[in-house]
Amino acid sequence: MEKTVGRTSLLAVLSGKPVEPAPIWLMRQAGRYLPEYKATRAKAGSFWTMCMTPELAVEVTLQPIRRFDFDAAILFSDILVVPFALGQGVRFEENLGPVLDGFPGAANLICDEAAWREKLTPVYDAMAGTRAKLARDKTLIGFAGAPWTLAAYMLEGKGSPDQRAAKLAAYRDPKSFAQLLDMLAQIVAWHLLRQFDAGADVVQIFDSWAGGLPDKEFSDWVIAPNKQIVSLIRKARPDAKIIGFPRAATQTGYERYAAETGVNGISVDTSTSMRWAASALGEHVAVQGNLDPIALIAGGAALDGAIDGILRDTKGAPFIFNLGHGVLPETPVEHVARVVERVRTRT
Ligand code: CP3
Repeated sequence: MEKTVGRTSLLAVLSGKPVEPAPIWLMRQAGRYLPEYKATRAKAGSFWTMCMTPELAVEVTLQPIRRFDFDAAILFSDILVVPFALGQGVRFEENLGPVLDGFPGAANLICDEAAWREKLTPVYDAMAGTRAKLARDKTLIGFAGAPWTLAAYMLEGKGSPDQRAAKLAAYRDPKSFAQLLDMLAQIVAWHLLRQFDAGADVVQIFDSWAGGLPDKEFSDWVIAPNKQIVSLIRKARPDAKIIGFPRAATQTGYERYAAETGVNGISVDTSTSMRWAASALGEHVAVQGNLDPIALIAGGAALDGAIDGILRDTKGAPFIFNLGHGVLPETPVEHVARVVERVRTRT
């Protein structure tokens, strides 16, 4: 078994090789639980300004690496930069989350690479700026939202627990909805390729709303568009490393996603048995996850036991330590430091 940390080890895991200690990074590792993030955000004035000002995005991307020495940095940005590039207005309201302007209709979305590039250049500049400052042995991760999750935000105008607006639109007019998903797959693949061009080593596709879909709709709205994105990326970059996160997809959903989309790694949510994931999914792809973000807030014996359980269950499998979802704002920074230390010393 290889004993390396950093860029090489995360890439090795994504090539199917188990590595000890497991590489570690956390979804939403840059965020409001960090005092230095809050200070930068207060100076910037808003979350969106931070995303769209390369120096600020580079700074907050690097903050968690400086403090915790994670093996990977994930670019500070948001999945909603894609609707923004398509011409749908996006704002972030304090304590409310994202709010989008009314859906303009698929025919009115901007379908022009030059226009996308103009709007998203700050994101690619932030990626290049991060690569220039990040130690060579750290992996740099880019990301995008998956078409179904983006469509859910675009049609609902905000986060929605049952994605009702998107489902109703899709059930009532399947043809138009398929066209929207196809367009989103095109721009997402394009956006991920531009992130690779700017220096990303790996990209992650977030399908945060993949759970709770009927079988056929899971095929049409999750599996097919994710597969399309992977194949569009691989046409331009055959050895691109891609992680998928079809959150809460259930065992059958994760199994299909791992076998059918062509990703190199799959991130699983907190309710998934890691013993099952390591054996059932670990044959096809690397497995990433799945510490409960609330156990990370709690700390103590619950946190230690949860970390040890995940390490035990994934021993011998190609595995990347992460959370089952993002770091929550009330998380004590000492608990995050403890996870990194324990993952590095228990394996
Ligand atoms: O992981 C990282 O550290 C990289 C940055 C990142 C952010 N958003 C920064 C962010 C990533 C990978 C995302 C992805 C994202 N954004 C998803 C998919 C993952 C998931 O959580 O399911 C989704 C659905 C979004 C849309 C979004 N952006 C929501 C729902 C919110 C509000 C929730 C919240 O925590 O306030 C955001 C805002 C957001 N994106 C913040 C951060 C750090 C908080 C902004 C702030 O108030 O400072």
